[in-house]
Amino acid sequence: MSRSYYIAGNWKMHKTRAEAAELAKALAARLKGGKHKYLVAPSFTLIETVAPIVKGSNIRLGAQNMAAEEQGAHTGEVSVLQLKDLGVQTVILGHSERRHVYKEDDGLINKKVLLALKHGLEVILCVGELLEEREAGKAEAVCETQTVEGLKGVAPADLDRIVIAYEPVWAIGTGKTATPEDADAIHAYIRKVVGKLYGPSEADKIIIQYGGSVKPENAAQLMAKENIDGALVGGAALKADSFAPIAQFDS
Ligand code: 13P
Repeated sequence: MSRSYYIAGNWKMHKTRAEAAELAKALAARLKGGKHKYLVAPSFTLIETVAPIVKGSNIRLGAQNMAAEEQGAHTGEVSVLQLKDLGVQTVILGHSERRHVYKEDDGLINKKVLLALKHGLEVILCVGELLEEREAGKAEAVCETQTVEGLKGVAPADLDRIVIAYEPVWAIGTGKTATPEDADAIHAYIRKVVGKLYGPSEADKIIIQYGGSVKPENAAQLMAKENIDGALVGGAALKADSFAPIAQFDS
């Protein structure tokens, strides 16, 4: 397999600047020389604090969201230009908390994806079904729609800056992890969807992370699956003692 593993920490709405600096320093030290690709995504207010700590390390700097417009009268939003100004390299878009709590739809998410790519950022596009959608047998269809709509208008040449994160909503923050087999099946399906859009070699190359209650205890089993290329970690990303072992899982 030519794909490399990519382990990302989504810090969500946690930490003060001092706490963020402490975590970033611990991770920069512990992941030094690590063999995979890493990222941390702190809240907007913490980015400037974390940026100099991870600069020059093997940890990329991410943001958790951004506005769909470059600039203008958008009270409370943060623009791609402002993120780039802070040294942000990657933006997480379409997280289920954005989709379901803040009602972001596929059209809005797609607009953000295209804008981020236009400005040279890498995008982690999150997809995933609700529990009722899974129980109704719609997990694949939901992930397909979110993938197809999220990637609308993305040029093949930009696909190497897209990462997909499969995060079944029922597994986020609940302690319920999808079994490695269930997760792998959806990852394989998403890869097939990318193949239909961009051809088999692009499908083979695209990194698909799993997210949803990833912990040091289950990371290696998940990563061992053919189609799981990394993790987008929430709760366990808030401590170096839990994120570092996930990031350094034995492959
Ligand atoms: P948990 O790891 O806390 O389940 O969160 C997953 C997630 O939403 C990462 O984006």
